[in-house]
Amino acid sequence: MAKDKTLFTCSECGGTTPRWLGKCPHCNAWNTLVESVAESSAPSKNRFAALAPSTEVKPLSEIEAQDVQRTPTGLDELDRVLGGGIVEGGVVLIGGDPGIGKSTLLLQALDALQRQSHTTLYVTGEESGAQVALRSRRLGLDGSQVKVLAEIQLEKILATLDALKPAIAVIDSIQTVYSEQLTSAPGSVAQVRECAAHLTRAAKASGTAIVLVGHVTKEGALAGPRVLEHMVDTVLYFEGDTHSSYRLIRAIKNRFGAVNEIGVFAMTERGLKGVSNPSAIFLSQHAEPVPGSCVMVTLEGTRPMLVELQALVDTGGPSPRRLSVGLERDRLAMLLAVLHRHAGVACMDQDVFVNAVGGVRISEPAADLAVMLSITSSLRGRPLPKGFIAFGEVGLAGEVRPAPRGQERLKEAAKLGFSVAVVPRANLPRKAERGGTELFPGMTVHGVDRIEEAMELARSLA
Ligand code: TYD
Ligand code: MG
Repeated sequence: MAKDKTLFTCSECGGTTPRWLGKCPHCNAWNTLVESVAESSAPSKNRFAALAPSTEVKPLSEIEAQDVQRTPTGLDELDRVLGGGIVEGGVVLIGGDPGIGKSTLLLQALDALQRQSHTTLYVTGEESGAQVALRSRRLGLDGSQVKVLAEIQLEKILATLDALKPAIAVIDSIQTVYSEQLTSAPGSVAQVRECAAHLTRAAKASGTAIVLVGHVTKEGALAGPRVLEHMVDTVLYFEGDTHSSYRLIRAIKNRFGAVNEIGVFAMTERGLKGVSNPSAIFLSQHAEPVPGSCVMVTLEGTRPMLVELQALVDTGGPSPRRLSVGLERDRLAMLLAVLHRHAGVACMDQDVFVNAVGGVRISEPAADLAVMLSITSSLRGRPLPKGFIAFGEVGLAGEVRPAPRGQERLKEAAKLGFSVAVVPRANLPRKAERGGTELFPGMTVHGVDRIEEAMELARSLA
């Protein structure tokens, strides 16, 4: 059999070249060529052979549909993002900043599964076995039966998986694993991709669920090629401010459940504890309302959550800055333009900073109205009224568009004692007429159609 030859494959178009080039000759993308192993030597080396077993062609109706078997980990918030539990042969990629709690959470999950008599394996490439043991003591998992393997060589890891046949294995982290078949260094794109492909194949073939821990680059993307995200069944991201104790896990992709579902944890002395009622944890405690602060209700997955948005508008230099933490910066620039054009609020010569409290990331446009109200409040130095919330998407024409499931959001805010709400008119229940309406106990809800109307209303209420 011919010896494997090294090839360079483009991570964008999949084209190959025999030597490394800065620019892909097929699609002209820069810096996309990564080393890979030539597979032409033997047909059995087809990388996706195990993923696509050869079967006959059948109509859809004749294929027996079976629900996937899920094993709950016992950590409710993790099960929630996974869509109910781990799936046999499923591959999960979990990313997040260093020190956010990935290893802690997975060790807790493995211990919980081991206690339900599932065989588990924790492969550590970043820490020694002793360090893992130390962490498990700290977590109060004394006498834990989780099997630990301190190994970074792919072939040995695969052999152990084959021999032990665990129900679930954690690879912490995929960036430390390397294959002898490639000459590039561990952590390089080629190694990460090749190792992940082999592990995925092993998972599908053996039924072992595999969790890959992935590092995150400074830009917040998973280090390694995007192809990693395509290869696995589920992609989870850990987010949160390492300075606060709350951590969020978000499902970015899930072949076995809903995306955008989030799990909320609090980091304690004894590891991560699930927070089953997270609605009020992203509010800071102000005794009296302060300028530049507006609370919104965001709906992540199935649960509404109240999040405080803060803005600071201050005199800037010749090219004023627009910075946002937890919100999209492009969207902020757009909202500032709408604010100027339709509500006459000018921030052209001002620095504008916005922040979502608690390290939470908000991607839904329903935050628009609250962002604009907090900016105006900071610019004018006037706080919004006590117990105020707002949500709604704002369009380029200055219209305020409804947010999905507005009733649920309002209900949650009323439950937490908020008393005034400004929301898109379409989110008002049909019965409600113009002006203040008491639909929820103790809460007055105002519906608006346009941004200028919302600004005027906020000014008259303050
Ligand atoms: P870790 O799981 O090692 O993070 P990652 O694998 O994502 O890099 O988490 C480490 C942090 O968590 C560290 O700063 C200490 C803190 N921690 C606690 O607060 N309580 C605990 O019980 C444990 C084990 C860690
Ligand atoms: Mg770790």
